Amino acid sequence: YTAAIDADDVEKGMYPHYMMKEMDEQPGVIRRIVQKYQAKDGSFTIDADLMAAINAADRLYIVACGTSYHAGLIGRKLIEEKAGIPVEVVVASEFGYDMPLLSAKPVFLFISQSGETADSRQVLVKIKQLGHTAITLTNVAGSTLSREASHTLLLHAGPEIAVASTKAYTAQVAVLSILAETLGKANGHTQTNDMVHELGIVANAMQTIIDEKEQIQQLVHDYVATTRNAFFLGRGVDYFVSLEAALKLKEISYIQAEGFSSGELKHGTIALIEDNTPVIALITQPHTQLQIRSNCSEVQSRGAHVATVVTESLAQPEDTFVIPNTALELTPLVSVVFTQLFAYYAALARDCDVDKPRNLAKSVTVE
Ligand code: G6P
Repeated sequence: YTAAIDADDVEKGMYPHYMMKEMDEQPGVIRRIVQKYQAKDGSFTIDADLMAAINAADRLYIVACGTSYHAGLIGRKLIEEKAGIPVEVVVASEFGYDMPLLSAKPVFLFISQSGETADSRQVLVKIKQLGHTAITLTNVAGSTLSREASHTLLLHAGPEIAVASTKAYTAQVAVLSILAETLGKANGHTQTNDMVHELGIVANAMQTIIDEKEQIQQLVHDYVATTRNAFFLGRGVDYFVSLEAALKLKEISYIQAEGFSSGELKHGTIALIEDNTPVIALITQPHTQLQIRSNCSEVQSRGAHVATVVTESLAQPEDTFVIPNTALELTPLVSVVFTQLFAYYAALARDCDVDKPRNLAKSVTVE
């Protein structure tokens, strides 16, 4: 039994591609998630047994593949910062066959849009045999990973049809932020944040970027329309988003793209920079902005064609694209929308099949 979603059941409506429809739905999905996880008193609520399972553990292991793994990287940051719980994020296909020494009392969170990914499932089966607890964060109620775990958190993103995942990623990060804040409030680690309000600001900021999509299409034209390769740079959460940005660009435009922690660039990859190599830097965090900017100068002086994507409060007149301010830990939800649209227009410019890229499947049910 699989709870797969049939593309024929979902209308594309006025949209040229499912991917554009799904990117466009993101502000609405964030608002829906806020509603779904809100209790009557306005605060967030998460199933008490699920919370107890995490609180009983000494470490949370996030297991996922592809885009869901990239959401997990942001999730680690959110949960460690807001709830003070140590988190490790692992790629399912590696973890299943090369398991590290686990902590004494681990708990596992599987992130999977489809809930059907075989690489993740084989880990779930193994850790259950070891007697550990599994939680699944998925878009599909009744999916294999949901049925086989002890607890499920739902994304409420609605069906995602395009092979390249967009709204599932932002939904995953939003639910992880709610989980992080709820855990943190319960254990006294977080007191002040108002995530309901902050996620509302995020939804509006996403909409602002979607409304500026023609500007992003122009940037694609200026930067990557005819290139063979491209690099995304960042540090901290900006680095994690750069990994997802590169994956999206590879998946649908077939441009060879890499996401890099900008400090690591000089230890090897800078050798690849030539005249006009496109480098897109994501700059949303005050404590690393100077370092990323200096890394941009390093590649620029070697000929790179640098674009900077910067939050408003950090923006300089020479920056390429400005994104609205949000809570610092939630900037990935906004900057990633720029990178999704960037990949989309790159695919269009190169006449690629946006919704069904070559060699890829929406859900990979073989190991
Ligand atoms: C496939 C898809 C990716 C997705 C990955 C994990 O490779 O093409 O877009 O991120 O599977 O899928 P899941 O459903 O487990 O999130």
